[in-house]
Amino acid sequence: MSDEQQGGITTVLKEDRSFPPPQEFQTRASVKSMEEYEQLWQKSIDDSETFWTEQAETLLDWDQRWETLLEWNAPFAKWFVGGKLNACHNCVDRHLLTWRKNKAAIVWEGEPGDSRVLTFSDLHREVCKFSNALKSIGVTKGQRVTIYMPMIPELAIAVLACARIGAPHSVVFGGFSSEALADRNNDAEASVMITADGGWRRGKIIPLKDNVDECLTKSPTVKNVIVYKRTGQEISMESGRDHWWHELVEEQSADCPAEPMDSEDPLFLLYTSGSTGKPKGILHTTAGYLLGATLTTRYIFDLKEEDTYWCTADVGWITGHSYIVYGPLSNGATTVMYEGAPNWPDAGRFWDVIEKYRVNILYTAPTAIRAFIKSGDQWPKKHDLTSLRLLGTVGEPINPEAWMWYHEVIGGGRCPIVDTWWQTETGSIMISPLPGATPTVPGCATRPFFGIQPQIVDKEGKEVTQGRGGFLVMAKPWPSMLRNIWGDEERFKQTYWSQVAGKYFTGDGARRDEKGYFWILGRVDDVINVSGHRLSTMEVESALVSHDDVAEAAVVGRPHEVKGEAITCFVTLEEGKQPSPELKTELSKHVVDQIGALARPEEIRFTDSLPKTRSGKIMRRLLRDVAAGRESQGDTSTLEDFTVLAQLRDGDE
Ligand code: PRX
Repeated sequence: MSDEQQGGITTVLKEDRSFPPPQEFQTRASVKSMEEYEQLWQKSIDDSETFWTEQAETLLDWDQRWETLLEWNAPFAKWFVGGKLNACHNCVDRHLLTWRKNKAAIVWEGEPGDSRVLTFSDLHREVCKFSNALKSIGVTKGQRVTIYMPMIPELAIAVLACARIGAPHSVVFGGFSSEALADRNNDAEASVMITADGGWRRGKIIPLKDNVDECLTKSPTVKNVIVYKRTGQEISMESGRDHWWHELVEEQSADCPAEPMDSEDPLFLLYTSGSTGKPKGILHTTAGYLLGATLTTRYIFDLKEEDTYWCTADVGWITGHSYIVYGPLSNGATTVMYEGAPNWPDAGRFWDVIEKYRVNILYTAPTAIRAFIKSGDQWPKKHDLTSLRLLGTVGEPINPEAWMWYHEVIGGGRCPIVDTWWQTETGSIMISPLPGATPTVPGCATRPFFGIQPQIVDKEGKEVTQGRGGFLVMAKPWPSMLRNIWGDEERFKQTYWSQVAGKYFTGDGARRDEKGYFWILGRVDDVINVSGHRLSTMEVESALVSHDDVAEAAVVGRPHEVKGEAITCFVTLEEGKQPSPELKTELSKHVVDQIGALARPEEIRFTDSLPKTRSGKIMRRLLRDVAAGRESQGDTSTLEDFTVLAQLRDGDE
C-alpha cells in the first residue's frame, strides 16, 4: 500500500445524532437490545463452531449433513465439508411443504406498468421446466451459464434453474456493453447464454439480443442461446444456436429433481472490478453463501412472515443475488422485483410501487436517495408510504443529509435505517445495525454482524487506535466469503490475502469511534464507486487508450452530488492529434461501447502530459485534487514536472 493510497483515507464529519430503535419496532424484533446483540456477537466469535453449526442446522435443508465445519488453509476456506444440499431446493421446494405453497414468492412490476405475481408453487413449476430446458440443450453440472437479462421474473427463474441442476451461473448486468459481456463470458467459458430480446429502461428498449449477437462474434464458447420474448421487437435468431425460451420450455416436464450439491460446489461467478486489469470472476460456493444470505436477510431486515420486501438493486449485482433472490426466497419471503428506472415515467415511480404493493421493507442505494432528494419531496408526499417499517441502504457511504431525508421523508421518522456494508466478495452483509437493537447514527454502518470480526489496521497490519483511520480487514473466515477468483488463484492471493498476513483485505478504509461503531471511509485502491457501481479506473483507462488517438490516460473519481463519485479522465493525445469537443464526444462513446453506459465519463480533459513520480507512476492523488477543484495537500516533491500540475489546474486543453 503506497502513501498515496493512505492519502485516500479522509476523516468524516463528526456526527453525533443518534436514533435508538423505535419501541414499537423493538418489541417485535428478533434481537431487541444492544446487550442481547453484544452477547450473541461475542458468543459467535468465541465459539464460532457452535454458532455456525446451529445456524446451518436451523436455517438450511440438507440432503446430507457435513462432517467438518471449517477447513481453513489460509487463504483457502472450505465450509460444511462433506455436506450436501441444493440452493434452489432451499429457496423454492421446501416452502411447498408448508402453507407458503400459495404465498407470493415474486411480485414483479415491469417498467411499462405490467405486473405478475408468482407463488412458490408457480416458481417451482417454472424453475423445473426451465431446468429441464437447460438439460435438453446439454447443460450439465459444473458447466457455466451466462445470464444477460432484464429484471423480469425469468431472470430469477434462470438463476434458480442453474442452481437446481448445479450449473454455476454468471449473471452479467444488462447495462454492460457487448464487449464487456464478451470479456466476462470468455473468462467463464460458458457454453450457454440466456438473454431476452430486450428490456425496458426509461421507455426505451435495451437491445439485449443484438448485444449478444455482437458479443458472440468474439466469444466462441457459446453454442446455445436462449431468448425470452420480453419487448417483442424484431431480432435475428440464428437457427441451431438460438432458441426461444417459450418454445423450449413448452415441451418440458414440470418435474426436475434438485441435484444434491457438495457444500463447496460452485454456485455462481460474479464479475466485479478490481484495482488492476480485467474484471475478476468472484467465486461463491453453495452452502456457505446460502447460509450467509439467509441468515443476514432474516436478522438485518428483521423479516416477518407477512412482510413484502423490496430490494431495488438489479440481479446483475451481488445485492440482487443475495437480497432479491437467494436471501429472501430461502426465508420464504415475498420479494418484489421492478424492471425499470426509478424515475420513469416520473420521479414518483418507486413510491408508487411501494404504495401499490404495500411494501414493508425497502432496501436501496444512496445514489437513488440523492437523486430523489433533487427531484423534490412532492413526489414521495403524493403517495401513502405508511406500509414501510424498515429501510436499508447499500453500495456506498451515505451522507448524513441523505440519511436524514430517507429517515424523515420516506420513513416518516418511524423506520429504522440499516446502513449495510459489504462487498461482492463477502457474499452477504458484514457490518450493519440490527434494526431492533442498534442505535443508528446517520452515515454509519455501525457494528459487525454475528460471526464477523472486522479490524482496522495500519500498513504493517497492526490495529490502529480508536478514532484513527486505517485499512479495513477481516480477522476470521466466514461462510459466505469468496473462495477464489475464477481461473486466477494468484490474483486471489495477491488481492485479498497478501496485504495483511492471514487477514482478508477489503480495499476499504475505515475508522472506529468510541462506541465501537465502524465508519467506512471509502476505497483505498484505484476502484471508484459511481452511483454505487464499482469501476476500476484502470478499466476506463484501458478503454480510452484502446482508441487510436489516445496516447495516455489517467482516470480518477471526483465527488459528485448524486453519483457519489464521477469519472474524470485526463487524456494525452498521440502526436499530431488535436483536442476538440467532437473528439471528447467520440472518446466518451468509445468508453461506453467498451464497458457500458455506467462507465460514461463525466468529464474528459486533454492535457500535454500527466503528473508522474520520478519512477514514472501517475500521481493520482494530485489528479483527484485537480478533478475536485482542491488545492493539493501533501507531498508533491516527487512530481516529475511541476509545470504539469499548473497546466492541469488551468484546465489546459
Ligand atoms: O467501498 C465499499 C462500498 O462498495 C464496495 C463493494 O462494492 P460491490 O462489490 O460492488 O458491492 C456493492 C454492494 C454490496 C465496498 O468495498 N460499499 C458497499 N456498501 C457500503 C459501502 N461503502 C460504505 N457504506 C456502505 N454501506
